[in-house]
Amino acid sequence: MAHFMGFGGYAPERVITNDYWAELVDTSDEWITQRTGIKRRRMAADDESTMTMSVAAAESALKDSGLVADDIDEIILATDTPEMMTPDTSALVQHQLGCRAIPTYDLGGSGCAGFVQAVDVARSRIAVAPKNVLVIGVELISRMISPTDRNTAPLFGDAAGAVVMGPEPGRAEVLDVVSGTDGGSAEILTLAAGGTRNPFNEKTLLNGDYNRLIMDGRKVFVEAVRRMSEASAEVLQRIGKSVSDVALVIPHQANLRIIDAVRKKMGLDEDKVYVNVDEYGNTGSATVPLAMWEAVDNGTIEKGDLVVLTAFGAGFHWAAAAVQF
Ligand code: ACO
Repeated sequence: MAHFMGFGGYAPERVITNDYWAELVDTSDEWITQRTGIKRRRMAADDESTMTMSVAAAESALKDSGLVADDIDEIILATDTPEMMTPDTSALVQHQLGCRAIPTYDLGGSGCAGFVQAVDVARSRIAVAPKNVLVIGVELISRMISPTDRNTAPLFGDAAGAVVMGPEPGRAEVLDVVSGTDGGSAEILTLAAGGTRNPFNEKTLLNGDYNRLIMDGRKVFVEAVRRMSEASAEVLQRIGKSVSDVALVIPHQANLRIIDAVRKKMGLDEDKVYVNVDEYGNTGSATVPLAMWEAVDNGTIEKGDLVVLTAFGAGFHWAAAAVQF
C-alpha cells in the first residue's frame, strides 16, 4: 500500500501576464483568455533551473511530511525539460538535497502525464519493498520553446510540485492508478530536435528547430478530453466507486476548455474540479502536484475526501489515480 506523506510545490516569483505576450507576438489578452482561460504564468529567473525548482518543491514536501533528506530511499522525477541531456535531473537533485547514495530515475519526455505515471511507478517500488519515495513533477518550459511562436509560447509556465510517498498510513492513500500510451500519436505533439533523429547541429540552429514545439492543438484537445475522462472513469470503477463519491478531481491544467469538457463528460459540478490554470498556465508535469499541494494547503481537500488525479500529455500518455485522503 502506498501513501502520500507530504505535499510541496514551487513557482518562480516572476509573473508573466497575457499582455507581456501581446507585446511580443500577434496575440491578445482576450484571445488567450477566451481560448485557454490562462491569465498569468510564472517564468523562472536566470539563476533558476529545473534542478533548483525541483529542490525547492522537494524541500517543501519533505518539511510537510516531517521527514528529512536522509529518510528518502528513491527519487523519481518527471520532466520534459531536464537540466541537461545527461545526467538526468534526479541525480542532480539527489546530490543537492543531500540524500544518501540512493537510486534515482527521470521519467523523461512523458509529457504532462509524467507525474501521475511516476506516482504509479513509485507505488510499485513501495510494493516490492517498503521505502520512502520522493516523486517530483517539474517543468522549465519557458527556456525550451520559441518565444516568437504565438501557437505555443503563451500556453506554458514554469513550476515544480512534489510528494513524499511511503508504505505507512500518511495523509492519503493511493488506492489505484490506471495509465496508458498511444505512441501512434507521437507526431501530434513533439519537440524533435536534440534527439538522435534530429541532433543539435548547425542545421537545427539555422532552422530554429531547437525550440520548435509542434502541436496539432485541436487533436490534442480531443484526445486529452477523451483519455482523461475515460481513465478517471476506469480508476473509479476499479475501486468500486462512482463519480458521486468523488470530492474533487484534479485534472492536468492545460487549458480551461479542456478541463471544462472533462468535467461535463464526467458529469461533475464546477466545484468538484480544481482549477488554477488561470494563475500558472500549463506547467506540464508540474500541474497536478502543484494543484494538489495548493488544494491541500488552502483547505479545498479535506480529510475523508476521495480525490481523482488525471493527466494527459505528449506520447500520447495518460493516467488517472484515485486517492483517499
Ligand atoms: N493568439 C492569437 N491567435 C492565435 C494564437 C494566439 N496566442 N495561437 C494560435 N492562434 C491562431 C492560429 O495561428 C490559427 O490561425 P489561422 O486560423 O489563421 O491559421 C488560429 O488561431 C487557430 O484557431 P483555432 O484552431 O480555432 O484555435 P483553437 O480554438 O483550436 O485554440 C488552442 C487553439 C488553444 C491551441 C486549442 O486548440 C487547444 O487548447 N488545444 C489543446 C492544446 C494544448 O493545450 N496543448 C498544451 C500542451 S499539450 C497538453 O498539455 C496536453
